[in-house]
Amino acid sequence: MPDSITLTDNRTGESVEIPIVNGGVEAEVWRKFLPNVWFYDPGFMSTASCSSAITELDGDNGILRYRGYPIEQLAEHSTYLEVAYLLLHGDLPNAAQFETWRHDITYHTFIHENMRKRFMEGFHYDAHPMGMLVSGVAALSTFYSDAKILDDPAVRHKQIVRLIAKMPTIAACSYRFSEGMPFVWPDNTMDFTANFLRMMFEPWEHVKWQDPVLARALDILFILHADHEQNCSTTAMRIVGSSHADPFTSTAAATAALYGPRHGGANEAVINMLSEIGSIDNVDAFVKSVKEGTGGRLQGFGHRVYKNYDPRAKIIKETADEVFAVTGKNPLLDIALKLEDVALSDDYFTSRKLYPNVDFYSGLIYQAMGFPLDMFTVLFAIPRTSGWLAHWQELIEHDSKIARPRQLYIGVDERSYVPLDQRA
Ligand code: CMC
Repeated sequence: MPDSITLTDNRTGESVEIPIVNGGVEAEVWRKFLPNVWFYDPGFMSTASCSSAITELDGDNGILRYRGYPIEQLAEHSTYLEVAYLLLHGDLPNAAQFETWRHDITYHTFIHENMRKRFMEGFHYDAHPMGMLVSGVAALSTFYSDAKILDDPAVRHKQIVRLIAKMPTIAACSYRFSEGMPFVWPDNTMDFTANFLRMMFEPWEHVKWQDPVLARALDILFILHADHEQNCSTTAMRIVGSSHADPFTSTAAATAALYGPRHGGANEAVINMLSEIGSIDNVDAFVKSVKEGTGGRLQGFGHRVYKNYDPRAKIIKETADEVFAVTGKNPLLDIALKLEDVALSDDYFTSRKLYPNVDFYSGLIYQAMGFPLDMFTVLFAIPRTSGWLAHWQELIEHDSKIARPRQLYIGVDERSYVPLDQRA
């Protein structure tokens, strides 16, 4: 049997055979054969919007690989900075390449004083740090006019380095501002993640920000969040980038997409949900309310692509134990474990293939480390920046078309304007 589908236009009787390649068919063949017949696909449920060599995701089998490397191996052996290099360059760096990369990133961690004073300190005292991050990243584009030059790989690389390097600085700045604490300058002699923890929490003693176990755990979480192929925010990055907006503006759009509770905001929603449940005795009643449609969704469960246990959730669950050994156990952990147990033995969830996703346990770790709830999505945005930029770079290198989907118009037919005094 040929690996293809045959499409017949019943109006003309004509047929065309379209090969199935890598599980998909080329829309171009469809388009030529059936001009003006749209493929209606809200939410892109059956649409591949690009080809990409960055991340491979097999949702049925719970497989995630960056540039061919299994996520489990990267989480065990690599660092976030090395993974960022891998996503952007296609291969792991050798020692010299890594040293240059590390130097370049740490060299660009500082933000312009006007950025801090005029933008970051201009927000209302209780501004959500994600709102500050979205606006701050967009504002960066006004500081680097060369970012508009998209056809020079060296200039593009410079913006990529700037964005990866400055993201933790802006993130920590937004948090310090909300706490009424002075800004902590980056220390470029420190590792990426340890430096971020320091910018966040120095000089507090109740947070164990100097403990290398916490820095390593956060680095693992950064590795796990670095890319996830064509999710909502990466799609936003590609769509805005396809108009040839500069990378800062495109990254701001991607950050905005991440903000929503169905995407990067879910880890915050998980903690709210666990706090509302309050006790393991209430888990059964809560699950019942979810099934009956009165309790909302089980946050941190389900995924558009994973129809199996999210491999990132497995690694995070292991990392949680290491963090809790330092910080003490998060009291919400027992509720989360019971909730997972109850849901995974319930036909409602198993028949819909709803399993814990990356957000189910990550919030528990962040909370135990001392991060406030509204910083959780920011912690997702910092590492995802390297993934967004890898996709942006690929989009520019592929000279991709501007994103411009079609719509099925379902509104009224033509009608004539009626002056205001004649309307009913
Ligand atoms: N709790 C209860 N029921 C659910 C859930 C959930 N978390 N997720 C999906 N369902 C049900 C849904 O009601 C529907 O049931 P039915 O067929 O009876 O109508 C069925 O499962 C399919 O749901 P869907 O909304 O069509 O699935 P989707 O692929 O459009 O949504 C999702 C994916 C992640 C938005 C969704 O599972 C969800 O809202 N999960 C909770 C929020 C969450 O954890 N988000 C983080 C995603 S992972 C991190 C990231 O990528 O940002």
